[in-house]
Amino acid sequence: MTLSDSMLAMEISAPGGPDVLMPVAVPVPVPGHGQIIIRVAYAGVNRPDALQRAGAYAPPPSASPLPGLECSGTVVEVGPGVSRWKIGDRVCALLPGGGYAEYAVTHEAHALPIPRGLSLKEAACLPETCFTVWSNMVTRGGLRAGERFLVHGGTSGIGTTAIQIANALGARVFATAGSDEKCEVCRSLGAEVAINYRTEDFVSVMTAEGGANLILDMVGGPYIERNIKALADGGRLVQIAFLQGAKVTLNLAEVMTRRLVLTGSTLRPQSDLAKARIARAVEAEVWPMIERGAVRVVMDSEYELPQAAAAHWRLESGAHVGKIVLRVEE
Ligand SMILES: NC(=O)c1ccc[n+]([C@@H]2O[C@H](COP(=O)([O-])OP(=O)(O)OC[C@H]3O[C@@H](n4cnc5c(N)ncnc54)[C@H](OP(=O)(O)O)[C@@H]3O)[C@@H](O)[C@H]2O)c1
Repeated sequence: MTLSDSMLAMEISAPGGPDVLMPVAVPVPVPGHGQIIIRVAYAGVNRPDALQRAGAYAPPPSASPLPGLECSGTVVEVGPGVSRWKIGDRVCALLPGGGYAEYAVTHEAHALPIPRGLSLKEAACLPETCFTVWSNMVTRGGLRAGERFLVHGGTSGIGTTAIQIANALGARVFATAGSDEKCEVCRSLGAEVAINYRTEDFVSVMTAEGGANLILDMVGGPYIERNIKALADGGRLVQIAFLQGAKVTLNLAEVMTRRLVLTGSTLRPQSDLAKARIARAVEAEVWPMIERGAVRVVMDSEYELPQAAAAHWRLESGAHVGKIVLRVEE
C-alpha cells in the first residue's frame, strides 16, 4: 500500500484557548526502527492535550508537536525491526503525540490489540488512561485488595478508569466529584462511597473510615495538605497532576511520624522501554478485566477531527463524564 504524502491534522497554531487548534496539511510520518504507522480511526482527547495547547505541557523533544496521546486504527506501515504487528492489524496505541491526525507513528511495543468485544471508538479511549492508572495506582502506589483507595476527579477519564480497576482488584473505592450527579456515576462504576467535594469534606469522610491507604490525586494545591491528613498511617499519596498548583507550604512532620509516602509520575517523558513495560502489564492485567466486563469505557462524546476545538471546549467546561473522542476515519 502506498500512503499519500500529506495528511490532515489539527495543529496548535499558537499557545492559547481551544480555537488555536487549526486544520493543516502536514507530511505523513515515516516509521523508524521498531515503529509502526497507524491509519487513525479515533483519537482520544485528554486533559494533557489541553495543557499542551495552552502552552503548559511541552512535548518531549523527539515527539510530534501535534496534540494527541492515544488512538485506535489500522496498521498501514511497519518500520525495520517490527515483529509483533503486520499491515492490516487493528490496534489501539499510546502515542508520544500526533494523535489528532489521519496517520500516527508509535513504537510497536506501545500498541495493543483491540480488546475482544470493544469497538475502535471505545478502544481509542483506553491507552492513556489505562497506562496512567495502572502505573500510578498499582505499580507505583501498590494498591492491594481490601485497601481503602481514594481517587479525586472520579468522573474524569482517569477517575472512571481508576474506580473500575481498583474495584476489580478488590479494593474499597472512594471517589470525589463536583456534583451529586457525578457522584452517582462514581457509585454506578463501583465506588463504595462518592463524596461531593462542594458539600462534603473528604478528609472527615476518610478519617471516619480509618484513613485512605492510597490516594490518586490530580488536584494538588490545597488538596496536598488535606490528602496527607486523609491518609492512614503508612498511606501513599500518588500525584498525577496539579490542577490547582504544585507549590504549597507544608509541615512534613506527619510524613515522618506516620510513615507516609508521597510520590507521583507523568507518563509522556518516560523512555520507550518504560512505556513498553507498562503496556505489557496493562495487556496482561487490564485487558482481561475489560474482556470480562469488569471495566468498561465511559464515553462522554464524539467530535469529527476538524471539530477538535469543540472537543476541547467540552473538556474544559468540566461538564463531561468520562472520555471524549475525535472521529478521524472509520
Ligand atoms: N501523570 C500522568 O501521566 C497523567 C496522564 C494523563 C492525565 N493526567 C492528569 O490527570 C487528570 C485527569 O485527566 P483526564 O484526561 O481524565 O481529565 P478530565 O477528564 O478533564 O478530568 C479532570 C477532572 O478534574 C476535576 N477538576 C478539574 N479542575 C479541577 C479543579 N480546579 N479542582 C478540582 N478538580 C478539578 C474535574 O472533576 P469535577 O468536575 O468533579 O471537579 C474533572 O473530572 C488531568 O489533570 C491530567 O493532566 C496525568
